[in-house]
Order: sequence, then C-alpha cells, then structure tokens
Amino acid sequence: MHISGQVVFGVLAAVSQVLGYQVQTPPLDTEWTYKVGTNPWPEYPRPLLQRPQWQNLNGIWKYRRADPEARMAPINESFANAADVLVPSCLESGLSGVQDINVTYAWLTREFTVPHDWTQTGRRIMLNFEAVDYEATVFVNGRKAGFHRGGYWHFNFDVTNLVRVNGTNTLYVYRNICSSPEDPHVHVFDPTDSMGYNIPMGKQRVNPSHIFYRACTGIWQTVWMESVPKNYIQKLDISADADGKVKMQVATSGGNDKVSISIVGDEGVSIMSHEASGNTPIEFVVDSPKLWSPRLTYSDDEVTSYTGFRTVSVGEVNGIVRPLINGKFFFHFGTLDQGYWPDGLHTPPSREAMVYDLEVLKSLGLNMVRKHIKVEPALFYQACDQLGLLVIQDMPAMFDGEPKPNAAQQAEFERQFEIMIDQHKSYPSIYTWIIYNEGWGQITQGYYPEYDLAARTKQLDPTRLVDATSGWFDHGAGDYHDNHHYANPQCGSPFYSLNSSPHDPKRIAIQGEFGGIGHNVSAQNLWKVQEAINAINQTYEIDADLEAYNYRGHILMTELKEQIQRYACSGAVWTQTTDVEGEVNGFLTYDRRILRLNVDQWKADIQALYDAAQGRTGQYKGQKALN
Ligand SMILES: *[C@@H]1O[C@H](CO)[C@@H](O)[C@H](O)[C@H]1NC(C)=O
Ligand SMILES: *[C@@H]1O[C@H](CO)[C@@H](O)[C@H](O)[C@H]1NC(C)=O
Ligand SMILES: *[C@@H]1O[C@H](CO)[C@@H](O)[C@H](O)[C@H]1NC(C)=O
Ligand SMILES: *[C@@H]1O[C@H](CO)[C@@H](O)[C@H](O)[C@H]1NC(C)=O
Ligand SMILES: *[C@@H]1O[C@H](CO)[C@@H](O)[C@H](O)[C@H]1NC(C)=O
Repeated sequence: MHISGQVVFGVLAAVSQVLGYQVQTPPLDTEWTYKVGTNPWPEYPRPLLQRPQWQNLNGIWKYRRADPEARMAPINESFANAADVLVPSCLESGLSGVQDINVTYAWLTREFTVPHDWTQTGRRIMLNFEAVDYEATVFVNGRKAGFHRGGYWHFNFDVTNLVRVNGTNTLYVYRNICSSPEDPHVHVFDPTDSMGYNIPMGKQRVNPSHIFYRACTGIWQTVWMESVPKNYIQKLDISADADGKVKMQVATSGGNDKVSISIVGDEGVSIMSHEASGNTPIEFVVDSPKLWSPRLTYSDDEVTSYTGFRTVSVGEVNGIVRPLINGKFFFHFGTLDQGYWPDGLHTPPSREAMVYDLEVLKSLGLNMVRKHIKVEPALFYQACDQLGLLVIQDMPAMFDGEPKPNAAQQAEFERQFEIMIDQHKSYPSIYTWIIYNEGWGQITQGYYPEYDLAARTKQLDPTRLVDATSGWFDHGAGDYHDNHHYANPQCGSPFYSLNSSPHDPKRIAIQGEFGGIGHNVSAQNLWKVQEAINAINQTYEIDADLEAYNYRGHILMTELKEQIQRYACSGAVWTQTTDVEGEVNGFLTYDRRILRLNVDQWKADIQALYDAAQGRTGQYKGQKALN
C-alpha cells in the first residue's frame, strides 16, 4: 500500500499530531499489536553501557518518500501533511502506521528539545541510533550530523554544535540505500536485491517468496539522546572467564587518562575496585567469580555495565572434539530464531513480546538459540544473558544466488562483519559466530574467504567459536563441521548426501538446521498475503494435523538422539521458533497464538538429548583441552 491512504492528515494535522497515527492492519496481528501505542520501546536501549542522563526520541515522527536526488534537509518544508509514522518501526510494517511497501528513499523527521540540565559548559550531546536500514544521513536543524551504512548496527553522532539548547530542534533522517560512499546524496544505485546489488540484508526481499520475507526499511530500533561530559567513556569491551580473569578495554574520548572500576556483586555489594588507563587493555582477576557488574568512573563520567564469567573452548572428550562451556561438554539444543513479527517485521512489538519467544523456548528445555541472519536490539542479548540462553549469532547474509559479491561488495560485507563482532562481543550469552549460511554470498571460486574471516574473527574475539559455513559449502574452515539436512538430521554421522558431508573428526559436529516439518494451520493464523499462502506447499514436509506433526517431531528427535549416542553430534538447531510469512514450520505460529507442540513429549525428547550426551562423556573423563 502506498501512503495515499494517509491523505486524511491534511485535515487532522491541525487537531493533533498523535491523532494522525493509526496502526495499519497487518496481514496478521499478534496479542501485542494494539498495545504498542505511541510510546514504543521505552526501555534504556544500551544495557552494556548505561548512563543516567538520556532521552528517548521514539514515538510519532513525520514521514514521506524522498527524492533520490535529495542533497539537503527539507528545512523549509512543513511536514504537516506528511504521514505520521511510529519510530522505531519498519516502514513496511502495520505498526509503522504507513505500511508503505518498496520504499527506497525516505525522509523521517521530528522535533525535539534538549533538557536544560544538559547544557552545562563542556557537556556534549550524543544522538544515538540503535539501527537504521540500510543507509541514513542525519541532519539536525538542516545541518548534516553524519552518514551511516549498514542496517543492523548502532551508530551515533556528536550533535552538540548543531542543536539549539533554548528551543525546538528538528531532526531529519534521510534514508536511502546503496549510494556511493563518497557522496551519499547524489550517486544512488537501484535498491533491489534483484538488480545486482548485494548487501548484508538477511531474509529481506523486494519480492518475498517462501523462505524470504518482506523487507524492512527505516529506523527500526530506538533513537535516543544522551548527555555526556567533555571527557567520556565511548565504548566498553569486557570479557570474563570461568577462572575469574577479566579483560576490559575502555575507549575514552580523552586518551589514556585514569579510569576507576568498581565491581559490584549480584546483591549490589562492592567486591573490589581497580584503577586502570583508558584505551589500553586491562586485565585483573576476581576471586570468587559470580555474576557481577562493573561501575566505571572516568573524569566526570560514570557508567555501569555487566558481565558473566564463562569460558568457551574446544576440547576432546573421550576421543571426540566437543564445544566446552566452563570446561564441560553438554549438548546444545536450540531453534533457528528468525526474529520476525507479522506486525513489526524486524521490530518486535515490544520487549515483552520479544522475551516471550525466549521464555517459551527456555520453558521447553532448550539451552540455545541460533539468531538467524538477523541482528536484534541489545535488549535481546541482555535477555539471553539474564535467562541463561546460549546464542549462536549469524552474520546477516548477502544475496543467496548469482552473481556472487564483487570485490567491493565483499569488502563491505567484511567491514560489517567486523562491526557485528565489535558491537556484540561483550554479551556473555553469545558463544559462536556464523559467517556464512548455506553458501549465500559465499565466494567459492578462486579462494575461500571463510578461512581469512575465521582467522580474523579469532583475532577480534578470541573468547568464542567460529562456525565458518553453516550448511552447504564446507572447505574445512572454523571450529565446526555444520550440516543442514531436512527433515532428518545428519549430525556427526558418517553419511553422504546432497550438500551434507560425513563427519570431520577434526572439528565439532553440529546440525545447524534440521526439522522444518510443517503444519498448515487455519487461515486465521496465516500471514494473509496470497503469494505467501501459495508458497506454503514448498515446505519440506507438511503434516496433515498436529498429531502427525508431533509424531514426526518425536521420530526426528529420536533420530537425533541416536546420532548423539552413536556418532559425534554435539549440538543441533531445529527449524524453527515461529512460522514466518509462507513458512508454517514453527514451534509457534507467526502470530504466537498457537504452540504446535505436545509439550510433555517435546520436553522429554529434549531432555533425552542431554542425557544421551551425558552418557557419551561419563564424568568427563579423558577430557583434554585443545585450545
Ligand atoms: C529555505 O528558504 C530560504 C529563504 O527562502 C532560502 O534562502 C534557503 O535557501 C532555503 N533552504 C533550503 C534548504 O531550501
Ligand atoms: C515491489 O517492487 C517489485 C520490483 O519492482 C515488484 O515486483 C513488486 O510487485 C512490488 N511490490 C509491491 C507490493 O508493490
Ligand atoms: C536561553 O534562554 C535564556 C532565557 O531566555 C537566556 O537567559 C539564556 O542566555 C539562553 N541560553 C542560551 C545558551 O542561549
Ligand atoms: C503449489 O501450489 C501452487 C498453487 O497454489 C501450484 O501452482 C503449484 O504447482 C504447487 N506446487 C507444488 C509443488 O505442489
Ligand atoms: C494452507 O491453508 C490455507 C488456508 O486455509 C489454504 O488457502 C492453502 O491452500 C493451504 N495450503 C496448503 C499447501 O495446504
């Protein structure tokens, strides 16, 4: 739908801005859709670096499609007649209020004021974006604050010199796609995946079909402002292992001045303090490691963070290469977790909705999720840290077909891959990075880029494992040998089949995807888009009713259990947490209203996997560390 449905704003604008916003009926809603309101995502958005002075800029903004040739912010334009849009949201989503499909260029704008106590001499004002898809040029009061490329990453600009502290400011975000780095305003490519452009985009497609979904455009995570002192902490990297060794690096705006670290235990009691320098590696040991939070003071800046103590490694247990967490092998079982929502697409309707998915998985006994070629808001990883759910984090894939990326596209993919690691390496729940999914965007002629990328990953983050190629084109790189096979697993097993190879004893065996059995629910729980409904019959297997679905689930889980007992299988990922668009193979339907599982049966089958793994390892005798 185009925004012509919104002409009514011309009349309503004089009454109230907020009146103009209306959730559009999405092809399928959830229990949360109509509870979102106009104050979405009120939570503090950066749990790893918290500061008291902040202001949320989410809410109702103005939106219109933009001229591809736009060079300047439209400061002389009244947006009174433009559509009201909810930030954060994907412009294509019902929750956005515009549900505008195929947007390539857009203006998003709002007014804001700066709190008076932020204006003391010397303090700086930072404007933070948690994610804008795909490129954003940001203007404050008509002057350019900066440009950012990449749809999944946090970025910020120092806007101290652009804001008026005594009045209203106008923030404009020009959203474009695929422009050249030299001049983000002028040189613009056609923005579709079908026209040879190749960017990290995950499952988004201009023409969705079966396993590919409606695209997300615009500001899809929280926008916020904060006040920082002249000398402030810009970033905090932290990792802590099971022996109590803590490694930190505090990026500060003022060189390597002194940073004070005070460590506070779970109960709020201070455990120890440590003095260090900014911008230099910090290492110290905590005696009895438990969950704790560091509180950092640097100059006038004071921030809090958190970490968890754990060690991820590869080891040999009774002759089989295994993933070890805190020196122990246990079986990792999780779901393929797409993180799509029928009302918000990339943006969950709320934190509560987002955590609901994780709690369902946790209650079934899963101990892991594979976050599939998408990156979530920081609060997702914090929730996994709090719930104790392991996370395998995929890099959002480039285009799945031919042509493969050219040199410039590959370089951009690698740049964004490093950003993913840099921005997420302090969440304890993430224990594995995936570079490529099923060969999508994976160059296989001339050289195998996953070797270099796996090595670089280990340099950037030595505390985690690398699954270089999850599915299909495995050339031996990384810590894992990862088969995808539907519906039945081929995990650590000596079987050959199309795109699945027999176990490589030098690496950990994981079944990166299996299951995927479908069940076509009643029309009311389906994504009501005809193309998606037509694609349902492409599902690997459809079981006529829930009894058959659960019977088949039991057979496949039993097969997996036997591969743990007989072969070298160390982990597996069931496809998938929820249905998405034309896919009807979730534990939950896309609207989260139906859980297909016979819960007692699945809990028992999941527990049986852990027991089978325990049976292979005994009391962890014969274990030896490999790294
Ligand atoms: C806005 O209007 C003023 C006055 O007419 C003009 O000088 C200025 O160039 C305009 N700016 C833009 C960005 O159009
Ligand atoms: C979006 O654009 C593509 C490519 O031009 C087109 O095939 C598709 O029908 C468009 N979708 C909608 C909903 O307009
Ligand atoms: C803000 O406005 C007040 C009152 O009008 C004035 O006294 C003050 O100087 C202004 N501050 C700035 C920074 O312009
Ligand atoms: C799937 O259904 C469509 C019509 O909805 C039909 O054209 C197509 O042949 C079917 N495909 C298969 C594999 O059954
Ligand atoms: C799935 O169910 C929908 C709605 O009842 C129906 O239109 C569609 O044909 C069904 N598809 C298959 C493959 O069963």
